[in-house]
Amino acid sequence: MAEDIKDMNNIDEHDDHEYDGIKELNNRSPLWVIILFLITFGFSGIYAVKYFGYPNNGMDQASEYKASVEQQKLKMSQAAEGKAASLPEPQMIAAGQKIFKEKGCVACHAQDGGGNAVGPNLCDNFWLNGCKMEDIIHTITEGKPEKGMTPFKSTLSGAQIKQVATYIKKSLVGSKPANPKAAQGVECK
Ligand code: HEC
Repeated sequence: MAEDIKDMNNIDEHDDHEYDGIKELNNRSPLWVIILFLITFGFSGIYAVKYFGYPNNGMDQASEYKASVEQQKLKMSQAAEGKAASLPEPQMIAAGQKIFKEKGCVACHAQDGGGNAVGPNLCDNFWLNGCKMEDIIHTITEGKPEKGMTPFKSTLSGAQIKQVATYIKKSLVGSKPANPKAAQGVECK
């Protein structure tokens, strides 16, 4: 019987692999097993390179943790920014007034917004750079460096700029400053 199998499958016998009359035969694995093995072998190579393969590929747990914390922080700051930009008007004005007093606007536009030797009166309805909300936001964001108005895009967030612009348009304009600077620019109609 063993001889038959040996002939049929072209089997090598390990002569020294015999214990208690049980022989180990050197059968060749079927082709499909070999192919399956090679596929899993190849797959493990790709898997290892992708998931642990090279340094700083960001796939390890520490980097994944860091990335997810950063994503969450970004989400939270966007939510805070969104909330700050859509406060009810009285709160926008109050927050804007605080910014106006604390971020140096008063140095050039006076405490009450009436203007001084440097900056124009923000309480009249005459404007050098446009009176629409977008214009005011643009002036504060980009400044007018050649005319002496500081850009505030790196000092204030988008929401803060909106707040201080709201304060100017809804609270300063139409108020009566102590020493108003003469009107400059065109009247807003
Ligand atoms: C260093 C002085 C300076 C500071 C600080 C400053 N401004 Fe100005 N600002 C100016 C000058 C000068 C102009 C006029 C620019 C021009 O001639 O177009 C101006 C113009 C403006 C205008 C447009 C006025 C118009 O008639 O079109 C707005 C609004 C304004 N500033 C708001 C602010 C706010 C808000 C801050 C604080 C966050 C601020 N400014 C801080 C000097 C300053």
